Formats: sequence, structure tokens, C-alpha cells
Amino acid sequence: MALQLRVYVPPHPLVKHWLGVARDVNTPSALFRSAMTELGRWLTYEAIRDWLPVVETKVQTPLAECPATFVNPQIPIVVIPILRAGLGLLEGGQTVLPLASIYHLGMVRNEETLEATCYLNKLPSQFAPNVRVLIYDPMLATGGTIMQAMAELTQRGVDAADVRIISVVAAPPALQKLSATYPNLVIYTACIDEVVNDIGYIVPGLGDAGDRIFGT
Ligand code: URA
Repeated sequence: MALQLRVYVPPHPLVKHWLGVARDVNTPSALFRSAMTELGRWLTYEAIRDWLPVVETKVQTPLAECPATFVNPQIPIVVIPILRAGLGLLEGGQTVLPLASIYHLGMVRNEETLEATCYLNKLPSQFAPNVRVLIYDPMLATGGTIMQAMAELTQRGVDAADVRIISVVAAPPALQKLSATYPNLVIYTACIDEVVNDIGYIVPGLGDAGDRIFGT
């Protein structure tokens, strides 16, 4: 069976609620930031449900021995926020995965050509072969930024099958590019919007996520 990009939109009322808050143009920056934190928290919770490696063991309660399941400490979990806007999601994601290692990747988009360039790269030269990676990038619009981030990861030994992307709004141009190059990727997003306008913004979207998080 041919591999196909999987995009999950969790039907959770809290995801819908915080997406509505984030979309509203009248939401002030401090509340927008909270919305991003909450979306990061709940989308991460959903994304790791069947993905976080566990070990089965036994523990002794005060009364008897019983089976117990723990997160497997042998499998490294890595979180990569794409700066700036990914920092908003990271805040919530960290509450779910407090022990994950965090590597920052800073990308800026040329507003005329819409090409992404990397201005900060804190990735290690090589990742462990069994690593699992979560990328935080709230807006998957033209796909320039996320495609470059994926290239940086795969060059360093990460298998796309071990990557999950957490976004808030995803649009067809980015999904098509990801699907063509990384068909075994999995994406968790709060919604899919159909349109990217000619200056690279998702419509209806939520505007410039970085500016709204940081009040710029
Ligand atoms: N980045 C944003 O912040 N918003 C968009 O709509 C597209 C890219």
C-alpha cells in the first residue's frame, strides 16, 4: 500500500475553543499567547497518544504488586519550535513533555519572494538513530519554512516517519509539498483552511502568528 501523508484534526472542544480565540482579530496579544499555549498543550497531548514509547513493568503499591506503564526513558524525544511563532506552541507542549530536549530553529520569510531562510540553527550535527521529533510551526501556508526545517532534520539522520508536526492552521500548498517529499509524515493541526493569498497568508487563518504572540 502506498504511503500517504496523514493529517489529523482532533475534534476536541478545547482545540476548537482556543482556535476561535486565536482567529478573532479582537483578541489581545496576551490572550492570543494563551490560546497558542493551550493549542500547543492539547495538540501535543493528542499527537503523542499512540506515539510516545512506553515500557511495561511492575510496581509495588502499599498493598500489592501490580502492572505499571511508564514513558520509556531510553527513546529520546526532541521538540523543535520554529521561531518565532513556534515558541507559542512550545509553552504548552513543554507541560506535556517536560523532559523533552528542545532545539531551536529560526526561520524568516522574505515577504516578496516568500522564500524561507534559516537565521538560527541550534540542531545537533547528527540525531540519535531512534529519536522521535515533534516540530512546532503554527502556520503551514506556502510550505517554504516547514520544507526547509524537514530538510535540516533529514540531513541530520532523522527519519520523517519518526516526525510529527504540530500546527494550528494548515493549508493545501504546504500539505501538498510535504506529501510529495515526506509521504510518511504525520501532522496534527487545529484546522485546515483552503486559501493562501498572494502574499502568503492563510485565509481566513489568524493573521501573522508571530506578531500576534509578541505584540509587534
Ligand atoms: N505565517 C503566519 O504567521 N500567518 C500566515 O497566515 C501564514 C504564515
